[in-house]
Amino acid sequence: MTGESAKIIDGKAIAKKLRAEYHVRVERLRDQHGVTPGLAVILVGDSAASQSYVRSKIAGCREVGIRSELIELPATATEAQVLEQIERLNDDPQTHGILVQLPLPAQIRVASVLERISVAKDVDGFHLYNMGGLVTGSTVFSPCTPYGVQKILEHENIPVEGRNVVVVGASNIVGKPTALMLMQQDATVCICHKKTRDLGQFTLLADILVVAAGVPNLIVPQMVKTGAVVIDVGFNRLADGRIVGDVDFEGVRRKASYITPVPGGVGQMTVTMLLHNTILSAERAATATVSPFPLRTTA
Ligand code: GUN
Repeated sequence: MTGESAKIIDGKAIAKKLRAEYHVRVERLRDQHGVTPGLAVILVGDSAASQSYVRSKIAGCREVGIRSELIELPATATEAQVLEQIERLNDDPQTHGILVQLPLPAQIRVASVLERISVAKDVDGFHLYNMGGLVTGSTVFSPCTPYGVQKILEHENIPVEGRNVVVVGASNIVGKPTALMLMQQDATVCICHKKTRDLGQFTLLADILVVAAGVPNLIVPQMVKTGAVVIDVGFNRLADGRIVGDVDFEGVRRKASYITPVPGGVGQMTVTMLLHNTILSAERAATATVSPFPLRTTA
């Protein structure tokens, strides 16, 4: 498509539609199994950004009928204190999802915390098992932001198979898992990162460009192929308080066929996929008699 201007993808509307479907699944769980999905969120410290993310996760739970539990620990908390909470939640049958908000204070090792979470309750998809499962397409839970990107493409009927996907940003949370998930759908995938030379020569090849670099205005129109699908995962607060993505939205929308706005695009989907994973976990717990996972699910 080479029209005048891209279709602006309404992440908020997609999220609203999915949440309505999830609400029905929660009611079905309650009616058929007497189960209410439960999500536990562990927040360490008092970062304003983390508090705001956690608030929107808890509000999302309320919206679809998931029970939530917030465990707040001081910035001085020890790793042992966090692990103790995780152990308790791993053993609690009312808790179907456990999420530790990142980043953690420096005295706590992120890997040791994430790996203590039961794989069966790892609704963030950050456990090493789930990360590794991305390579073979056998995750127990897909990580929420990449899953949100995938759902957006699916919702807009944008095919992935055989298309050139360029992912800008190689983080463990977004860039790498997004690349692996789209490769699993038979896209031809390229990952660019901070050390990539001449970024534009790669982005120009993209039929689907996913940008998660955390750099405002990194992607300008000269770097985008006419008719490309542009998914902006960036979320940057400027000095004047405005929230912008990584893409020059006004410029690139004239060249792309589809584009996600910031805010109102991918951001809306991340929490929605967390709600999805928590419900899925509760559905599995309610219907499975044995663990479906080929490894012990508690540490
Ligand atoms: N910090 C920033 N993004 C995320 C996320 O998706 N999950 C968690 N747990 N922490 C984050």
